[in-house]
Amino acid sequence: MSARVLIIPGDGIGAEIVAAAQRVLEAVAALDGLELDFQHALLGGAALDAHGDPYPPATRAAAREADAILFGAVGGPRWEQTAVELRPEAGLLALRADLDLFANLRPAQVFAPLADSSSLKPDLVAGLDILLVRELTGGIYFGEPRGIRTRPDGEREGVNTEIYRESEIRRIAQVAFAAAGERGGRLCSVDKANVLEVSRLWRAVVDELAADYPQVELGHLYVDNAAMQLAAAPKQFDVLLTPNLFGDILSDLAAVLTGSIGMLPSASLDGRGGGLYEPVHGSAPDLAGQNVANPLATILSAAMLLRHSLNAPDSAARIEAAVARVLEQGLRTADIATAGQVAVGTAEMGDAVVAALAS
Ligand code: IPM
Ligand code: MG
Repeated sequence: MSARVLIIPGDGIGAEIVAAAQRVLEAVAALDGLELDFQHALLGGAALDAHGDPYPPATRAAAREADAILFGAVGGPRWEQTAVELRPEAGLLALRADLDLFANLRPAQVFAPLADSSSLKPDLVAGLDILLVRELTGGIYFGEPRGIRTRPDGEREGVNTEIYRESEIRRIAQVAFAAAGERGGRLCSVDKANVLEVSRLWRAVVDELAADYPQVELGHLYVDNAAMQLAAAPKQFDVLLTPNLFGDILSDLAAVLTGSIGMLPSASLDGRGGGLYEPVHGSAPDLAGQNVANPLATILSAAMLLRHSLNAPDSAARIEAAVARVLEQGLRTADIATAGQVAVGTAEMGDAVVAALAS
């Protein structure tokens, strides 16, 4: 039976990077005898323009039917003035919530040939391999009350609510503990328990779970310190567990350590095999339509799709090896090219990965 893969390009560079990744998926499917049935849907600004809704019913129906979703990025200056509930980002958040994609995995790995591309000294990042596990469907992104309201004295105030139920903390912490158990055996939970009650509960629930994972060494860091440690000595970490907002911030930081935010894939999982796979970077409207964006984060996201949703770990590893090989061959998109290196375009990088799949 063929697997249903929903392709959602989104906005900006989304169409180009997703097209490259789809070609890689098709090529690996042909090599490994996988049957993939691709559908396409709109999300974000593209959906808002076409249907007046950043998460239209047709996309919702297709997303619910799919075995896995490959997604590009949403947003852009065109929709900057759009009301918050209709913004492109609201479409992505609605999709994450609708499919209960609570577990966001963001692996930050430095490919050896790119150690020189990092903003940090090469010895600080060479061999870096960390996994950020971000809670994705709760916290301040979704908490009520929210809004901008007018006080009785006529002054406006904005409000958002950081709220976590025990069960939400427990299920994401279990994902992080399990991942740590399969990797280096170390888990660092990130919070702001010196100030926030919600963080104190977060820390308490994570501590309670530790007894179930005796093989995992658990630590805690306040988020400000975690940011500093990530920038100062990132290799001390194995798995980082974060609430939604802290994970958003720290994953951009983790991403850039690897040489370029254009290298970082992600998986957003529902805990039952379904998932949405997307690069961590945004829609880069300034690069859109120019064939210059780096498709590797999306291609590596396609590998995660094969591993986590389609039970095809060998095909996933084949893609990851092909990406490593093209980097070793010296191919670079503009974001990861260093002085003297000639940059290739989005499509050429995708083609190079396809060519490297079979070797
Ligand atoms: C991310 C993005 C999203 C987020 C935006 C586009 C809503 O920054 O996936 O990190 O904040 O989660
Ligand atoms: Mg982000």
